Amino acid sequence: MEKLIGRNLNISVFISGRGSNLLSLIKYSKIKKSKIKINLIITNNKFSKGLEFAKKNKIKNYIINYSKKKEAEHKILEYLRKNKIDLICLAGFMKILSSSFIKKFKNPILNIHPSLLPRYKGLNTHRRAIENKDKFSGATVHFVTPKLDSGKIILQKKVRILKSDTEKTLAKKVLKIEHKLYPSAIEKILKKSSF
Ligand code: GAR
Repeated sequence: MEKLIGRNLNISVFISGRGSNLLSLIKYSKIKKSKIKINLIITNNKFSKGLEFAKKNKIKNYIINYSKKKEAEHKILEYLRKNKIDLICLAGFMKILSSSFIKKFKNPILNIHPSLLPRYKGLNTHRRAIENKDKFSGATVHFVTPKLDSGKIILQKKVRILKSDTEKTLAKKVLKIEHKLYPSAIEKILKKSSF
């Protein structure tokens, strides 16, 4: 971690779908004070809408066939090495990375998750928060470890759940805060030496 502090970072973003968090990271990478460059986009889904952002911004992108996970991860590691990637940002990447991949990649891997972890690891976070009549939900950026959605938390932000909220309206509110949270979490790890 220490070796990343205060220097420019080459980032690879992994996506599976819409890619709105990818877009927020691309926008952030373009502001003057930003110390990140998005060099590589990886997806397991050739229909990811997020691939359009890769193309529009001329960012190298690879569609990886995940039917054989071991081979897929081997290929990804090769691309990461070739592109000198310092940090991976999972942004709506719906595949679980193996512990061997996490170990081999040596540098940090971050994930954004649509809940206030440790509450609601896994899927259907908004539905579960509403069903449990929670007053708040939110989003979390955390380090990725082999245990799903359980790595150290970097940053979290809350939103209030209103009685009138549905899964859809809550998802929209949370997504809006995600777009600010991910860049802020990267800024935070670039400043801080110990996690
Ligand atoms: C985001 O809400 C992200 O938090 C969630 O998928 C969505 C992706 O949206 N990630 C997970 O659920 C991971 N477990 P996007 O493709 O528009 O960034």
